[in-house]
Amino acid sequence: PRHIALVPAAGSGSRFGAQMPKQYLPLAGQPLIRHALATLCAHPRIDRVVVALAPEDLYWQGFDWTALGPKLMPVHCGGASRAASVRNGLWEIAGWARPEDWVLVHDAARPCLSAAMLDTLIDTLADDPVGGLLAQKVADTLKRADGADRVEATVPRDAMWQAQTPQMFRLARLADALDRCPDVTDEASAIEAAGLRPRLVAAGAANLKVTWPEDMKLAELILQTQGT
Ligand code: C5P
Repeated sequence: PRHIALVPAAGSGSRFGAQMPKQYLPLAGQPLIRHALATLCAHPRIDRVVVALAPEDLYWQGFDWTALGPKLMPVHCGGASRAASVRNGLWEIAGWARPEDWVLVHDAARPCLSAAMLDTLIDTLADDPVGGLLAQKVADTLKRADGADRVEATVPRDAMWQAQTPQMFRLARLADALDRCPDVTDEASAIEAAGLRPRLVAAGAANLKVTWPEDMKLAELILQTQGT
């Protein structure tokens, strides 16, 4: 089967609070989204890189993407939620891919994805009947709050992981799962709701998601140490 990357990039970045959607903010001299796209496009085992842009996106065309090569495929198919953007992207992909092809959904807002992380994910899941995702074991002690910011309980953290991306599932199964379960915050949740157990593939804290302004500095430092 082929490996097709799908990058939802139709968010407005409202939590970040900048003028421009955060995926286009400058990070280490490039728009944030370009880091992950460059890693995906350069990876020999990734066949195509589909980017789900907001229908009204005006920023994409302002940059020159030719250096990333012919795998890159921008589509103005974003929806009102991340899951809707992914679902619309899968519709596009279904027009030319096979049901058993793997789709790797990766957040535009995770710039520090590395080739090594992709290799680990693809190798670990190659023969997996379900698919899975990069994730990291929780390091901090977890508290559940009541409605007034007081601790109601301490949640045992031993079995807790933080979900990252890419999340890698077969095209037809993922599309079907998202059809039945459109209000999820990641792809694995939809697969779980279908009664399956996605595999957690350990990745490090370097694969962070840029959500708040202070995440940019950290991402820049990580990119520097990765030498990209
Ligand atoms: O907002 P958050 O950081 O959780 O977004 C995760 C990813 O989903 C980002 O890459 C964002 O651009 C994308 N997204 C999208 N369509 C939306 C909302 C978010 O493609 N409507």
